[in-house]
Amino acid sequence: MTSNSMDKIFIGISGLIGAGKSTLAKTLGEHLGLDVYYEPVEDNEYLSDFYLDIKRYSFPMQIYLLNRRFHQHQTIIWHGKGGVQDRTIYEDTVFARMLMNSGLMDPRDYRTYVNLFENMSNFMCKPNVIIYLDVKPSISLERINMRSRDIESGITLEYLEKLYEEYELFIKDISKLIPVIRVDWDTFRDVEDVARAIEEEYLNASFLRQVVKW
Ligand SMILES: Nc1ncnc2c1ncn2[C@@H]1O[C@H](COP(=O)(O)OP(=O)(O)O)[C@@H](O)[C@H]1O
Ligand SMILES: [Mg+2]
Repeated sequence: MTSNSMDKIFIGISGLIGAGKSTLAKTLGEHLGLDVYYEPVEDNEYLSDFYLDIKRYSFPMQIYLLNRRFHQHQTIIWHGKGGVQDRTIYEDTVFARMLMNSGLMDPRDYRTYVNLFENMSNFMCKPNVIIYLDVKPSISLERINMRSRDIESGITLEYLEKLYEEYELFIKDISKLIPVIRVDWDTFRDVEDVARAIEEEYLNASFLRQVVKW
């Protein structure tokens, strides 16, 4: 534990599939003494069907994940103990938008999803900080292949490149609302480095700005 000031912090970990979110969430949680809220994978009832027939399952998959992440998000807020969330509720819109743009989600379903998310987000306290693990699509594909989950065997470089483009837009947008620390994760770093970056960039940063001249 580096500092008591981090004992109730709510940290969201963002990034492409295979970036290293779950691994970092685990080590960062241990390092800071925070509970970790993992992305639902083994117990995700839609995941295998989704990868077999993306178009058919894109909408139910998004609704399912929105609900699961909302529950995690609420738990972190109401427990008041902080926590590390492995993928944020905000970046699900990255997937939804990419699916719609690729013709894999009906535009009407997409609008319903976004409206539902926006209504829910009015009831959500934001994480204190988001750590964005910036990983090139080719590296993410290597890591996906390395961990060899059967259900992910159909993920292509093209799919990851489209997702990466959406992630870039997402990070630009969300950083207007939530402090984002972007880290180059093409090569892994020690958890201590990440904890230090949070402390220096977020906790010790001054957000006071004074306008001296209009
Ligand atoms: N810090 C790390 N050091 C070594 N290998 C890692 C590290 N982080 C992730 N990996 C490996 O990279 C792959 C993807 O990591 P994972 O944490 O499952 O990514 P994500 O949760 O973002 O999909 C896994 O095979 C994992 O073991
Ligand atoms: Mg994971």
